Amino acid sequence: MRRQLLALGGAGLLLSVSIIATQAQQLAAPTTPPDPTPFAAQGTPTFVSTKDIFEFKALPEYHEPDWVTKQFVATGKLPPVKDRLPKEPMVYKTANMADGIGAYGDVMRHVIGGRPEGWNYTAGQSQGWGGIDIGLSECLTRTGPLFEIKADELEPLPNLAKSWDWSADGHQLTMHHIEGAKWSDGVAFNADDVMFYWDDNINDPNVKPLNSKGADSFGVGTTLKKINDYTVQWTFKEAFPKQYLYTMAYGGFCPGPSHLLKPQHPKYSKNTYDQYKNAFPPDFLNIPVMGAWVPVEYRSDDIIVMRRNPYYWKVDEKGNQLPYLNELEYKLSTWADRDVQAVAGTGDFSNLEQAESYVEALKHSADPAAPARLAFGARTIGYALLPNLSGNGWGEPDARGKAVRELNRNLDFRKALTYAIDRQHLGDSLVKGPFTAIYPGGLYAGTAYYDKASTVFYPYSLDSAKAELKKVGLVDTDGDGIVNFPKDTPGVGGQNVEITMLDNADYQTDKSLGEGVIAAMQAIGLRVIPNTVSGIKMTAAQDSGKWDWQILRQQSEVISVVQNTSSLAPVGPQTSWQHRAGTDKTVDLLPFEKQMVDVVNKFIASQDPAERVDLMKQWQKINTENVNNIGLTQYPGALIVNKRFANIPAGAPVFMFNWAEDNIIRERVFVPQDKQSKFELHPGTLPGAPGKGNGPISD
Ligand code: GLA
Ligand code: CA
Repeated sequence: MRRQLLALGGAGLLLSVSIIATQAQQLAAPTTPPDPTPFAAQGTPTFVSTKDIFEFKALPEYHEPDWVTKQFVATGKLPPVKDRLPKEPMVYKTANMADGIGAYGDVMRHVIGGRPEGWNYTAGQSQGWGGIDIGLSECLTRTGPLFEIKADELEPLPNLAKSWDWSADGHQLTMHHIEGAKWSDGVAFNADDVMFYWDDNINDPNVKPLNSKGADSFGVGTTLKKINDYTVQWTFKEAFPKQYLYTMAYGGFCPGPSHLLKPQHPKYSKNTYDQYKNAFPPDFLNIPVMGAWVPVEYRSDDIIVMRRNPYYWKVDEKGNQLPYLNELEYKLSTWADRDVQAVAGTGDFSNLEQAESYVEALKHSADPAAPARLAFGARTIGYALLPNLSGNGWGEPDARGKAVRELNRNLDFRKALTYAIDRQHLGDSLVKGPFTAIYPGGLYAGTAYYDKASTVFYPYSLDSAKAELKKVGLVDTDGDGIVNFPKDTPGVGGQNVEITMLDNADYQTDKSLGEGVIAAMQAIGLRVIPNTVSGIKMTAAQDSGKWDWQILRQQSEVISVVQNTSSLAPVGPQTSWQHRAGTDKTVDLLPFEKQMVDVVNKFIASQDPAERVDLMKQWQKINTENVNNIGLTQYPGALIVNKRFANIPAGAPVFMFNWAEDNIIRERVFVPQDKQSKFELHPGTLPGAPGKGNGPISD
């Protein structure tokens, strides 16, 4: 860390030599960040091509668990497996499976801190996270497993879209969907599901699908039309914007069952948008899915049980219909309990991501007799403090809120915030040791597009922070330790500055970092009032814009860059985390944001790897120099999986393009016969009819 003692300039010196003598300040100058301590990830992937993982083709014969044949097919309750599969199912290649062809049976017991709002993810409801939605929904493309794709072949994996082709001019993309696949209730999946998702959800301003960043995350002016039951065609303003194939993966384009959803949508019913969103509460069971497991039981604050989807459209090379695991369980507890239970063996899976529990988890897992294996990945978990940059009314701020937004939009103010944070100390307060690294903001160190020389780091300096505050006219005029708004600030002139900070209540790390930020800001005379919101309310709170600052556990845009790229700048009215359209529907971009938008749009349009690298250097420079997001800390996560499971790919990261629940390809995971547990809660059952209070059926 380089520090400079800056001499104060002429006029001040003349005015008041004595004050300067007593208040000599140690001002810090921006520099580049220190190199993070090396941290070796455990396990490296075997890098492969997409075609090494799977292909779509018909096989001579298909199989299913014996009990399904006996209880359901032989009794006429289900058509034979070959008739439940599409013409050409997705076939996973044995050579790419860590332990090969699997055995049927058993359950993966998850523990989560989230709670389901309901099953209508299409209208924005969360299912409680922890990979429930990842297990039940399928998307046009898939990105989780990309961690093992060769770098020069990186492109989203086909999924519901089994292939696509570009027109010669690159403005049209024709997508071919899997043909003859069915929802878990046996109803055909086709282009109507896709068009309903696009027309009546993504493009309906009153609806925001879960994790969606709006229509503009597919490019401004993009259109989609149905060609036939299994073909749709995209038209883009840009040529070859291959980037949007990433937006078509988890979080961007995972269509819901239109045969259930459409009749509830306000356009086709008398429902309000609220009624539409809430039409499928958690106790509505057996919701039709394209994913491998269907929710069949829900007990509030207790458990969600999911059973195998008898219509799942993926198989192994022997023609065994997937998934191998009959059941997924989701115990509704806390995120910290997920770590504890996975380590203890009463749960089967955890993304170890709350740094506070690392030492304890490591200690227990080191025992050779420990029930679970724990493998650390790269530093891809990180947090930033985001100032709300809307000056034209996103979230309808009152006078105080407006005054804070004006401060947020002032670079000197943002510099004060970043100078005030002692990142070394903040990281150490979570966990001591080699885990956390100083994170100035922008892209994470150690990722493909990161460039240290383009990263501007404002090192910890309270004096610098206070000097920046003074520049924006913030001084403590009444001597109570909190700086006051300047007298002429509309509505709040002369009052103490108070700032609200949105923070997730469900994670210890989010709360610890929140407390760290509050203390840091207190030291420079800013009063920060935390608004800790439970996970179930978090997305809505973030989207509402009703916050001055928020603590954000960041997503893959700052790791992979190629995923969620449009979140790297406000390229559309809804794409940014921290700056969305105001009351007049426009985004009042600051000059540096205009530059970022320009760079991000160029990145999306570019096919030239060297140019893209250069563009991301520019983005990193603009982002960090202008303190767009205030980095807090960055550290590795560890994947904990019970030792009885097989086919966990080597080097599967806790988080990269997506969370580990996607990365490990759970539909291929199995438990060898001799290790199978008796933990299934509903053995011998399959999902029953969709409806409130319905459950699984056994014969
Ligand atoms: C939550 C958890 C993550 C991961 C995701 C999956 O966010 O904190 O570890 O399980 O859910 O959606
Ligand atoms: Ca004061």
